[in-house]
Amino acid sequence: MDDRRHLVLIGMMGVGKSSVGRRVALRLGRQLLDTDRLVEEEAGSTVAEIFAAEGEPAFRALENAAVRRALESEPFAVIAFGGGAVLEPANRGLARELALVVWLQAPARELVRRVSGSMRRSGGTARPLLDQGRPPEVVLDELARQREEAYRATAHVLVDTAGRSPGQAATAVLVATGWAPG
Ligand code: S3P
Repeated sequence: MDDRRHLVLIGMMGVGKSSVGRRVALRLGRQLLDTDRLVEEEAGSTVAEIFAAEGEPAFRALENAAVRRALESEPFAVIAFGGGAVLEPANRGLARELALVVWLQAPARELVRRVSGSMRRSGGTARPLLDQGRPPEVVLDELARQREEAYRATAHVLVDTAGRSPGQAATAVLVATGWAPG
């Protein structure tokens, strides 16, 4: 597959887009861009603070701008999208046009295990969509169902991360894309 473009990682929160992305970027000799971090740099506050102070629509507007900045940046990078970035049709179109898009997948119970560490460390505020007083596995399962079509419509390649470490998932991404390191 043509490797003269960005590599975008999409999928649910907790699936490992940032940790897998970091490893893929290292092996490809590229920079990792993370849309959540780009939003935070632009806003001067954390994702959780933006959700709390201005609400989800304000966050999505910043996220859409971050997605565009990342996809239009040079040189080609590995870009980790926030879990909900594919909800915006313009982001889906731009990503498919300007990048190879990999959908990282994992069952909801595994997502819960992976997000629980950061939830504990932050006292429950690191992922505002999970901070609603409902069991995280219920919310994650519901969001995954609602978003399945958007992920499917955006992805060129699917990679199952279930039971895989971030390093193993990174290898699976490189194998599935056919992009050789170096
Ligand atoms: C969100 C996922 C988060 C972050 C925000 C909303 C979502 O990013 O953008 O909390 O809607 O799924 P990660 O997928 O990196 O956790």
